[in-house]
Amino acid sequence: MPMSADEGEKRQAIIDACRRMNELGINQGTSGNISLRHQDGMLITPTSVPYEEMRPEQIVFMRFDGSFAAEQKPSSEWRFHLDIMRSRDDVNAVIHAHPPYATVLSIMGLQIPPIHYMIAAAGGDTIRCAPYATYGTAELSHHAVKALEGRFACLLGHHGMIAIGPSLARALWLAVEVEALARQYHGCLQIGAPPLLSPSEIERVRQKMAGYGQADP
Ligand code: 13P
Repeated sequence: MPMSADEGEKRQAIIDACRRMNELGINQGTSGNISLRHQDGMLITPTSVPYEEMRPEQIVFMRFDGSFAAEQKPSSEWRFHLDIMRSRDDVNAVIHAHPPYATVLSIMGLQIPPIHYMIAAAGGDTIRCAPYATYGTAELSHHAVKALEGRFACLLGHHGMIAIGPSLARALWLAVEVEALARQYHGCLQIGAPPLLSPSEIERVRQKMAGYGQADP
């Protein structure tokens, strides 16, 4: 069946976002993966293909029942991409990467507390850190979905970070913001225990942000 213009654009947008992740320094090599909701499933990056070499036809279409064309090889992290899409109607894009500072905090098992008001962009007063589980497993997916409850980002223990959103642009913007917060928190910890903003202040900011700025991101 020929590909629709909409599907072609989505495939290219995924590749562009992958390359942008590497340019922005929030990912290294092929360690990240991206998915975008499409029809009754999602489009997801293939496993282990360098972003510079990735072609639109290599992006895998996976239905919500987990089925995909036998000759294709989706990202090894397709489970959590699929489970997040299935459990969150508000999410159309999922980004996973191993940004340096977010990964340092994830290794230490630290969540990001409300050190800065921008944490509200991730949906609450913390960015949780999910417990470690082997990459690509249903266990990791379970931990990720739980850590993302009421949130748009989480850390994955000894692994990296997930950012999600209603659009790819928004999820990428948030991935950059999460890495900035992780870097700020890492810096604070060099000096001591940082003072924190209150949950009520973060909630106030979250509501204010809902009406802030241009439409997208
Ligand atoms: P893929 O190349 O299979 O997408 O996975 C890399 C990775 O990040 C595993 O966590």
